[in-house]
Amino acid sequence: MHPRTSDVLVVGGGIIGLVTAWRAAQRGLRVALADPEPGGGAAQVAAGMLAAVTELHYGEETLLGLNLESARRYPDFVAELEDASGGVGTGYRACGTLAVALDADDRAHLRELHALQQRSGLASEWLTGRECRRLEPMLAPGVRGGLRVDGDHQVDPRRLAAALLAACERAGVVLHRAWARRLLVAGDRAAGAVLEDGTELGAAQVVLAAGSLSGRLDGVPRDVLPPVRPVKGQVLRLSVPAAYAPFLSRTVRAVVRGGQVYLVPRENGELVVGATSEELGWDTTVTAGGVYELLRDAHELVPGITELALTETRAGLRPGSPDNAPLLGPTRLPGLHLATGHYRNGVLLTPVTGEVMATVLTTGELPAEARAFAPGRFRSAAGAPSLSPAGVS
Ligand code: GLY
Repeated sequence: MHPRTSDVLVVGGGIIGLVTAWRAAQRGLRVALADPEPGGGAAQVAAGMLAAVTELHYGEETLLGLNLESARRYPDFVAELEDASGGVGTGYRACGTLAVALDADDRAHLRELHALQQRSGLASEWLTGRECRRLEPMLAPGVRGGLRVDGDHQVDPRRLAAALLAACERAGVVLHRAWARRLLVAGDRAAGAVLEDGTELGAAQVVLAAGSLSGRLDGVPRDVLPPVRPVKGQVLRLSVPAAYAPFLSRTVRAVVRGGQVYLVPRENGELVVGATSEELGWDTTVTAGGVYELLRDAHELVPGITELALTETRAGLRPGSPDNAPLLGPTRLPGLHLATGHYRNGVLLTPVTGEVMATVLTTGELPAEARAFAPGRFRSAAGAPSLSPAGVS
């Protein structure tokens, strides 16, 4: 028995690790969490779109079900969290989203997306360019049409992280502000982790929830290590003076020259512009090219952004998985669970991930809504990690 033992040790204190720790503690488990900077990670960069419908992609229909389920839970989730955190606001806004097209190619792409949304039974309305500009007068005159999706909302991920951290502290989660360096294995079970300073933390169950770093914990057997990789996203923050408000009343997004650009207006005047998507390993450099492309594309959509102050440029790492869907639940190593690989949907999937992981940790069972996302889907018959998923159609 290790001297410092809990029921659950969560490795990683981003929003996914924090929501797992909070929900597990609510169910009566003794929970510890290891992270040098709990509340940090990709949520400090993310825009916070809850875009189950406007970010629908071909081949991700199974993931759509989980995304919609989590979106459905969001209002109750933030109300409960704001209460449990002692009143930390999350910036949740049921503001809706407008996806627009700037030229004939964009419009054809958006028409395809609309058809896919309709086949999937999703609420989405086609608007002419004029109707789009009536909703959002700051849009460029050249906008050729768009999709109005009132069900795609937003939350402020930095405030969400702060609220989760406060809720964890109030629920008795023990925070260790250091990286876990190595998984402890005793017999055939995960038994805790060793921190950077050599401290050993024993635990009956361990959850690996370290975002894009989840594949790098020493001591995890190779065939259990999650196949996650970092996908860089550069994001800008601008500030809308009170005199210009409301600059935009909902999230506005488009595909410009093949790249996604979105503008997410917060109630406090912040306007978040994202995001690049770059396969560059662990690089988090903000580049002139990344900032230029985001501003150029955002300016084509909303020319008035050039009047705003540019207050922040930052890059974060999405935890990408081979099928763009998360890995949730038990691994082949008894006592070791995963909550990682959320890729573009970490903020959206926070409510459902917390519930799923708390159920797994208390009952050993993966709830029905998460079965398609079990980590074992990446194993080939020969036992080696596979790149062809079974669980996501
Ligand atoms: N979900 C937005 C992004 O990953 O850029």
